[in-house]
Amino acid sequence: MTVRFAGLELANPVIAASGTFGYGIEFEEIVGLERIGAFVTKGLSREPMAGNQAPRIVQTASGMLNAIGLQNIGVADFVEKKLPELKRYPKAQVIVNVFGYKVEDYVAVIERLNDAAGIAAYELNVSCPNVHEGGMTFGADPGALEFLVAKAKTAATRPLIVKLSPNVTSVTQMARIAALAGADAISLVNTFMAMAIDAETRQPMIRNVTAGLSGPAIKPIALRMVYETAKAVSIPVLGMGGIVTAEDAVEFLLAGATAVQVGTASYADPRAVERLVKGLESWCKSHHVERVASLTGGMTIPWQG
Ligand SMILES: Cc1cc2nc3c(=O)[nH]c(=O)nc-3n(C[C@H](O)[C@H](O)[C@H](O)COP(=O)(O)O)c2cc1C
Repeated sequence: MTVRFAGLELANPVIAASGTFGYGIEFEEIVGLERIGAFVTKGLSREPMAGNQAPRIVQTASGMLNAIGLQNIGVADFVEKKLPELKRYPKAQVIVNVFGYKVEDYVAVIERLNDAAGIAAYELNVSCPNVHEGGMTFGADPGALEFLVAKAKTAATRPLIVKLSPNVTSVTQMARIAALAGADAISLVNTFMAMAIDAETRQPMIRNVTAGLSGPAIKPIALRMVYETAKAVSIPVLGMGGIVTAEDAVEFLLAGATAVQVGTASYADPRAVERLVKGLESWCKSHHVERVASLTGGMTIPWQG
């Protein structure tokens, strides 16, 4: 079940996605932190952030809208309070999601993390749709993205994964820019900008009015974006968007992903990530797949020579 990318070696390709798994430690009694491939922390900023006002989560048909607004404890508290607790799980692979309003903020967070032990890689969040500055502003602007990734790569002493926004005209263009600027891997997708209105009250259902859509509703679009991105760049791609079952994960691997991330599914079933590890293992056994890594990019199109 082992997969390798960007200098990392994961026991399996199933990763808990940012913003849906706390800082990892909160899940210690629910999920085997050393049994899943890795987990990504909530996006961390230079200073703590309170996030947006409620309501900031609402269920929709086949998905979920959120506009959390990057509420987080800040990088210093993570390093001083959460990381020491994670030492109880020395084999857990911790990927830290990094957020900033400005390039200097991203670099400052990375520099603070560089000094800390127990982190496998960084995931640069250039794709949050729920903040007014930073986040998606970088992921949707080719020049800004190139500059930020180059600076982050120079600052980082660990592998750098760049998490892209699907809210762009060409996600493959953004992926190519990130790769050229030094990204070691690409992860996608973050949530799709969306909204919900209560017809009775005639009011938006989310305080922020707009929000990000995740969950099964986005899976087919995410799959297409992962497929196109994996063909466009030579660095590894981590795929996500609506993965709930082992078959969903297999589809993303076949589309070209080296590993997958699981987000919203953990809201419906907090054990989802570990369940997926077991499900993927069984799927591989029943389909006589000896190495899960062999599935990556394995989709065949028989009518194309
Ligand atoms: C409540 C919530 C909070 C999230 N917070 C973050 C975040 O802090 N940083 C980030 O890069 N992505 C964040 N995401 C996006 C997820 O990591 C993931 O990219 C997205 O939800 C699509 O995957 P899914 O359909 O499996 O949830 C968040 C998603 C949700 C639902």
